[in-house]
Amino acid sequence: MESLNAPFSRRDFGDDFLWGVTIAAFQNEGAHDKDGRGKSIWDVFTQRKGKIKDGSHARVATDFYNRYFQDLLLAKIMGFSVFRFSISWPRILPKGSGQVNSAGLAFYHRLIDACLEIGLTPYITLYHWDLPHAMETRGGWCHRGVVYAFEEYVRICVREYGDKVKHWIVLNEPFGFTSLGYMLGVHAPGKFGLSYFLPAVHHVVLAQAAGARVIREEVKDAVIGTTFSCSHIIPYTQNERDLLAARKADALFNRMFLEPALGMGYPVHDMPMLKRIERRYALWRDWDRMAFDFDFIGIQHYFPLVVRYNAFMPVVGVSEVKPRYRKVPVTALGWEISAGGMYAVLKQFAAYRGVKRIIVTEGGAAFTDQPEDGRIKDTARIQYFQDYLGAVLQAKREGVPVDGYFAWTLTDNFEWAEGYRARFGLVYVDFETQRRTIKDSGYWFKTFLNEEG
Ligand code: NOJ
Repeated sequence: MESLNAPFSRRDFGDDFLWGVTIAAFQNEGAHDKDGRGKSIWDVFTQRKGKIKDGSHARVATDFYNRYFQDLLLAKIMGFSVFRFSISWPRILPKGSGQVNSAGLAFYHRLIDACLEIGLTPYITLYHWDLPHAMETRGGWCHRGVVYAFEEYVRICVREYGDKVKHWIVLNEPFGFTSLGYMLGVHAPGKFGLSYFLPAVHHVVLAQAAGARVIREEVKDAVIGTTFSCSHIIPYTQNERDLLAARKADALFNRMFLEPALGMGYPVHDMPMLKRIERRYALWRDWDRMAFDFDFIGIQHYFPLVVRYNAFMPVVGVSEVKPRYRKVPVTALGWEISAGGMYAVLKQFAAYRGVKRIIVTEGGAAFTDQPEDGRIKDTARIQYFQDYLGAVLQAKREGVPVDGYFAWTLTDNFEWAEGYRARFGLVYVDFETQRRTIKDSGYWFKTFLNEEG
């Protein structure tokens, strides 16, 4: 990608461009046993020895459950007008289905009302990885019953909040939670192997469309989206085998959940392993139920992937050439920084006929932030946002229908298996005291979003 040297202002993105900031229930709320909340798979997973790198849990997290008003004000001060958060399924249905927890419903009413009062448009994600533990004991995403339970949960939420909230996101990063949680076992529920992964993929694909259909039925004027993690896939060399490896990786990382939603079915041609799903569920005749006409899709690009053929890798025959062997800039998590990757995935996703609108529903980076005299000078993060936003602007100028950017994330929070060491926030959190300090990157957004340009 040609670099965008010219300085840009928020004006360049257009008056209708949405500027938002995103959080997720499990990573922020805490209050794990308050007001009747049930356990999620992450409550259980964090108790397992060695699963979370710093040995932490999220029983308190950023205490967002109690501090949401103050945190929303921080979002507002920084100039954002959209607040994306998720609902915790086990707070609404402690057992996953059946008995509804009215105190859980009341919390999200308070949160939504506070957003509206402060002037933040809520974008609600219905599933950001915290499956009720009770569902997992019945097979979790590997069991078909989860699709019906999810529909029930979605119906309860949208009936409850649909008068106040019009923007709904069905799932957060289906590839993320199925691959890490059901293939590699490094996220909750810690299952590994294809016998878990493939059924989980299929039920998530069904839930993605089924949840969206429920919203359409229940909420007048709803704007419905769902998000996808995506990586720009680069073959290590141009030799035939590496090119094939790149096509496989692309099918797996970028296309496996999107294409069924667009009515294209699974990308079996480039990822033959997915034929096993087709065979296994042939009798169910699910193929028509996987599609939904989404109003927008959310894309979340954190890093590109350089891949090569590797005969020793089971099932896929593909391995990653890690950034450390390529001497490229990385974040504190070792993720390659590549604005060109952002540009490339926007172009790739926009090329689908069925993709009408795109919002970058997450974007951000972890760096080792150190407070110095009460200030967090995270210049690397500022540079990161400038570069990635430059890529978004360039894609937009070239006709990609991208009309929003939501930063990940408001405050430092519980970064899943990484624990609290990976700090992604625009606001620094001292986890001992819960004190918040806006980082320089937060002030950068404040200036950027408030200037007339
Ligand atoms: C994607 C996930 O949606 C979010 O929960 C996570 O914290 C960020 N990426 C950073 O890893």
